[in-house]
Amino acid sequence: VGCGSAKSNGTLVVGTNAAFPPFEYIGDDGNPDGFDVALIKAIGEKIGMDVKIQDMEFDSLVSSIGGKIDVAIAGMTVTEERQKTVDFSEPYYEAVQAVIVPKGSSIKSADDLKNLKIGVQLGTTGEFIADEIEGAEVSAYNKAIDAVNDLNNGRVDCVIVDKNPAEVFGTQFADSVDVLPGTDFDFEPEFYAIALPKGNTELADKINNAIAELKKDGTYDKLVAQYIEE
Ligand code: ARG
Repeated sequence: VGCGSAKSNGTLVVGTNAAFPPFEYIGDDGNPDGFDVALIKAIGEKIGMDVKIQDMEFDSLVSSIGGKIDVAIAGMTVTEERQKTVDFSEPYYEAVQAVIVPKGSSIKSADDLKNLKIGVQLGTTGEFIADEIEGAEVSAYNKAIDAVNDLNNGRVDCVIVDKNPAEVFGTQFADSVDVLPGTDFDFEPEFYAIALPKGNTELADKINNAIAELKKDGTYDKLVAQYIEE
């Protein structure tokens, strides 16, 4: 027996941006970990492929598919704009944006966001929402945590970022920030899916079947409990 798995159909190179807990982050051992990382590894096992995780900027994931990476899993929301370039698997998680504000802030509803300095992660749906807010001055950071740091420095008035990471950051800065739910701001639900090379229906079918099997056999629920609801 050599090294590697017994019957591998090759290697799936998976792009992510490992600065988005609990979906992807760098674990204590220095390797990418998180819900998405565990999910794609479980998918890899189902379809008999070795999974190699490639950590990169979120904003370059979509354009790297079919080049540096085969697919991307990164808490990535299905959007029409992205669908011009890539296909998506079946959605695997429903999310929504949240607003991180300084503790005791008067920001409460959509109207209060007008004319504010808003921090976001570059190339994310949080940025696309902020760009539409009247009079907003948007600062886009490579990592969402850098936006949160600038909130703590007073350089931005609030941060718009996906709910689950917002809650993790909120816990890290529990003394200084509050996390407000997207429903207070009429934000639309978003659906995370794996971004795939356009037109590769064979790979899409394999991955979608694997997701369906993982949902059926309890693996999916186990990973939600382990990474998201712990
Ligand atoms: N859901 C948002 C989007 O698709 C943010 C995703 C950011 N993910 C990350 N791994 N940094 O735009």
